[in-house]
Amino acid sequence: MSEHVRVVEVSPRDGLQNEKAIVPSAIKIELIERLAACGYDTVEATSFVSPKWVPQLADAEAVLAGLTRKPGVRYPVLVPNLQGYLRARLAGASDIAVFTAASEAFNHRNINASIDESIVRFEPVLAQARVDGVRVRGYVSTVLGCPYQGEVPVADVVRVAARLFELGCAEISLGDTIGVGTPGRARAMLRAVAAAVPMSALAVHFHDTYGQALANILACLEEGVRVVDAAVAGTGGCPYAHGASGNVASEDVIYMLQGMGLETGVDLDALVATGHWLAMQLGRPTGSRVGRARAPEAVR
Ligand code: HMG
Ligand code: MG
Repeated sequence: MSEHVRVVEVSPRDGLQNEKAIVPSAIKIELIERLAACGYDTVEATSFVSPKWVPQLADAEAVLAGLTRKPGVRYPVLVPNLQGYLRARLAGASDIAVFTAASEAFNHRNINASIDESIVRFEPVLAQARVDGVRVRGYVSTVLGCPYQGEVPVADVVRVAARLFELGCAEISLGDTIGVGTPGRARAMLRAVAAAVPMSALAVHFHDTYGQALANILACLEEGVRVVDAAVAGTGGCPYAHGASGNVASEDVIYMLQGMGLETGVDLDALVATGHWLAMQLGRPTGSRVGRARAPEAVR
């Protein structure tokens, strides 16, 4: 039986927010358009956060303005507060994502707010989004560990995820921000959250710092999740999460899902080519194992 898994491509946002050199807007636009052409239905495009905090994405308006949108594709953008929401709407965004964490220590460093303060900031955003018919995703970071606090109790993940869902987020993405999770813990965390939020509204977001991401995704698929975040060429990381490395590489995720007979709609060859193109733009080798195995002669 063939089943569908929605892979959410986050490289234009999560991938490029952590690059040392600022990537030109034209490259960002080309990346988003190439990814849409690969067959994704969701490509997270950029962030309307403070340019002082994330200068890498200070060109969010220019990126959305320059984008040729493919019909049927969603281009969500990160929004930390009402100011970001208004910027995003003026720039033409019709999908947003708010983000908080299960760890107080991480939240203070990442968004200068406690968990409860962040939720208070989101309330007017979600209220306005409802009026505007804007779909909202909610991220919960540090679900399997925090670079500053260490252990994160599963009960805290459940509480924050349930609160975002109650507030009106259509989808909750559970982020292992620093990639410390292992499959048993990932499965237990997801199971606990799914007791409070329907599994159909959950996504998983793994960084691959310890090489556990694919194993964690497999455990979560077995648990029933059907939305998986990934970044082409394994780009990514949060500038405010010390030690965080790349997201799980999309090529590797798509290869695994295809091998399991799970449908994604994404063309693996086109994705591998996009990963090599991006690695070339960034001036370093791809972080995807599948990308390396299928490298064209010229980049071997
Ligand atoms: P703050 O300094 O407390 O904000 O930052 P503030 O409200 O006091 O405002 C300070 C200044 O920022 C003011 O400007 C505001 O106008 C401006 P000034 O008067 O000094 O000139 N400002 C803004 N400008 C543009 N757009 C905005 C905006 N908001 C305020 N939206 C704030 C608080 C949340 C703004 C800041 O901490 C911030 O932008 N943080 C973003 C950090 C970030 O983007 N981190 C990465 C994304 S999260 C992630 O990667 C994890 C994820 O991938 C999942 C996972 O892996 O776990 C999602
Ligand atoms: Mg991330």
